[in-house]
Amino acid sequence: MSSAAAYGDFLRGLISNPRAVSAPTPSSPTLARAIAAQVDLGRDGLVIELGPGTGVVTQALLEHGVPADRLVAIELEGSFARLMRKRFPKVTVHHGDAVTFESQIAFGARVAAIVSGLPLLQLPLETRRSLLRRALACQDAGGAFVQLSYSWRPPVPPEPGMTLTRKTVWRNFPPAHVWTYRAG
Ligand SMILES: C[S@@+](CC[C@H](N)C(=O)[O-])C[C@H]1O[C@@H](n2cnc3c(N)ncnc32)[C@H](O)[C@@H]1O
Repeated sequence: MSSAAAYGDFLRGLISNPRAVSAPTPSSPTLARAIAAQVDLGRDGLVIELGPGTGVVTQALLEHGVPADRLVAIELEGSFARLMRKRFPKVTVHHGDAVTFESQIAFGARVAAIVSGLPLLQLPLETRRSLLRRALACQDAGGAFVQLSYSWRPPVPPEPGMTLTRKTVWRNFPPAHVWTYRAG
């Protein structure tokens, strides 16, 4: 897909749902690769992507080595969910609210990592905390919750027993941070 066509798809979603999309452009390939690199390929289970948009990070996850049949993407904006299904027919794409991601996966399913492009700072702190806790609680030791953010502050303050790392990616508009939370 040409970058003009990819941006056109993104712009249509942005116009249709500016609050949910909440970014001027999709993540750059450099940022998408930095996010995907946080996923440990040695772990079994699903990799769940919250808010995939037009699929830049999805593509990077596949290139990183995540098998398509272990990737589940949950997207709120209808035009993005339809585009995702067309672009990635082997990835499971759900059209719905990723904050309640558990309702979209089989009960007790093993989870290897959760990667999020959700505009988390728009959500109340308690909702963010709950999402982070649930995202780590559904994984065994070493699991990760990887969050993209444009703010220099962590999107959720880490809690006792969690570790948090940050990687700053300048080659993105705007410059962005990849925050990785792991259960200690
Ligand atoms: C900042 S964009 C990131 C898109 C993509 N991950 C990227 O890096 O280019 C935020 C994405 O999250 C989606 N989104 C926002 N709120 C959502 C929700 N509650 N559930 C699922 N997707 C949501 C938006 O529609 C949009 O696709």
